[in-house]
Amino acid sequence: MGESTQVAGAVVVTGLVPEDPAAWHTESSELLHPWEREQSRQFTRETRARYVHVHVAAHLWAAGVLGVEPGAVEITRRPCLRCRAEHGAPQVVVDGHSSYFSTTRTGRHYAFALSSRPVGVDLETIRSTLDVDAVAHVACSDTERAHLAGLSPAHARATFFRWWAAKEAVTKATGHGLKADFRTVVASGTDASSTWEFDGTAWHVAEVRVDGSDVVGAVAVPPSS
Ligand SMILES: CC(C)(COP(=O)(O)OP(=O)(O)OC[C@H]1O[C@@H](n2cnc3c(N)ncnc32)[C@H](O)[C@@H]1OP(=O)(O)O)[C@@H](O)C(=O)NCCC(=O)NCCS
Repeated sequence: MGESTQVAGAVVVTGLVPEDPAAWHTESSELLHPWEREQSRQFTRETRARYVHVHVAAHLWAAGVLGVEPGAVEITRRPCLRCRAEHGAPQVVVDGHSSYFSTTRTGRHYAFALSSRPVGVDLETIRSTLDVDAVAHVACSDTERAHLAGLSPAHARATFFRWWAAKEAVTKATGHGLKADFRTVVASGTDASSTWEFDGTAWHVAEVRVDGSDVVGAVAVPPSS
């Protein structure tokens, strides 16, 4: 795992699942909440082992940030905004006190964010196979699409994925996730790291860097924190 950084009150970290499965944290799976174990069972063997590795890493990291024993950290879910079942945005709970938590995975890369205020983090791999034009129709505002149309294909692709990471970080912070209309999650300018607005609320979005990779990332926090 990399160095943790502070982004306006939130603590953020990125990590890489080791290539060698022998180095995965599968032996500490007792740290996981029964709910996390249940979730892991929906995956096939290797995906499940990666899920367990990343979740154990999250428990160990959150314990370090909060200065408690790893066994004291529970990662559970808030009520879903749609159906109120407990599968909404994740949270870290220690002794009944909950912190906002967000997590994301793309390929072997992952990131975590923890804060006393709502927080969302997202990583995206810039995929050369994605039809940016087609997805921009459902994910970008008219202004954003006009901006993309003026860029070279490679620049438009990179810009689109940066915006997507910013939009997803914002909607993970609110708990809406992909159920939000991404065309209505908009920045004050064309830069992904700026103030974004969704549903009448402003969010400060900062870049999460994953150097030496084709992965882009963003973290969203309330602007005044
Ligand atoms: C959250 C969401 C955008 C993540 O999608 P993704 O790009 O495939 O995955 P990422 O790796 O970036 O993020 C995954 C993490 O998002 C978190 N997450 C799930 N639902 C979330 C929500 N509503 N808000 C914020 N975070 C959420 C989970 O912690 C998950 O990690 P985990 O499975 O290891 O616990 C997507 O799963 C989603 O939209 N979920 C909500 C769907 C919904 O509301 N359904 C209604 C059911 S009634």
